[in-house]
Amino acid sequence: MKVLVTGGAGFIGSHTCVELLLAGHDVVMVDNFSNSKRSVVGMIEQLGKKTCVCYEADLLHYSDLERIFSEHHFDAIIHFAGLKAVGESVAFPLKYYENNVTGTLNLCRLMKQYQVNHMVFSSSATVYGMNNPSPLTEEMPLATTNPYGSTKRMIEQILTDLAAADTDFKVILLRYFNPIGAHESGLIGENPKGIPNNLMPYITQVAAGQLEQLQIFGNDYDTHDGTGVRDYIHVVDLAKGHLKALERIGYQEGTKVYNLGTGVGYSVLDVIGGFEKATGIKIPYTIVDRRSGDVGVCFADPTKAKMELGWNAEKDLESMCKDAWNFQRSSRG
Ligand code: UFG
Repeated sequence: MKVLVTGGAGFIGSHTCVELLLAGHDVVMVDNFSNSKRSVVGMIEQLGKKTCVCYEADLLHYSDLERIFSEHHFDAIIHFAGLKAVGESVAFPLKYYENNVTGTLNLCRLMKQYQVNHMVFSSSATVYGMNNPSPLTEEMPLATTNPYGSTKRMIEQILTDLAAADTDFKVILLRYFNPIGAHESGLIGENPKGIPNNLMPYITQVAAGQLEQLQIFGNDYDTHDGTGVRDYIHVVDLAKGHLKALERIGYQEGTKVYNLGTGVGYSVLDVIGGFEKATGIKIPYTIVDRRSGDVGVCFADPTKAKMELGWNAEKDLESMCKDAWNFQRSSRG
């Protein structure tokens, strides 16, 4: 298949491009490199053992995007491009709605115009909100608590409506839990600009001596050790889920939604312990207040992805920690 990958140089996008190339697909990626490095493209080609076509373009620039559609015929789109920092989305909601929703609308308009009918969309467990009990299943009611999450929910709705209006248009919404880790080569991984918001990049930067200590946001949750529990999933497992979705999408009707998680919850202290065990490096930490908007427990029921996509996560916490550290240590992190 010839696949357009938006946000292909980002954390999940880059790992997915590698898996697509290894599986023999043709990859055309578009990225504005606002939160990724151009050097990632060469790494993707090296790991995927195949070249890909890369456009530096922004989904908000319709004519740039149109040029890409006019130069290729795509069998499917995997849509990752978007802003993703929860706190920033609260401070700058317009930027998030504009970028994530308008960018997607531009993409959908061109898909209709050029008769590209299959889209796999990068959604998030954030759409389950604060009130559903874990394990989270796909049919639970949705609610969001910040503009970033609202853009994911809105885009899910837009794509669902498009598929309802046109039986040729097929959509798979993948709700990711907490992707961490990196490619085992250490060549690609998570490379946030500035001080990381998320747990694993924060831990690896503490381990590297770039940050002094980790702050644990609350130890009074109703969990086995009081710290927040999440469903961490290795980014390579997650990337492979996209290939399964691509294989399946032509055979389904309308829109399908799948959780991509392991089904296992680990606390912040479990992750610190796992990292220390995998790397031998001690992570200093202090306990501070809860972070506003955090839930105590969030993990997936991944049964539906297993039954319908034939996908399940294979890598354990130790390899997630080992690979995240390997990437950081490689000096690319
Ligand atoms: N945490 C800390 N200290 C930190 C960072 C995080 O204690 O410096 C804790 C959090 O309180 C939470 C856990 O580590 O208990 C995981 O936090 P992350 O920020 O890594 O991830 P979140 O679960 O908050 O959010 C992630 C993505 C969101 C996505 C959400 C889906 O960042 O984009 O998962 O559930 F929406």
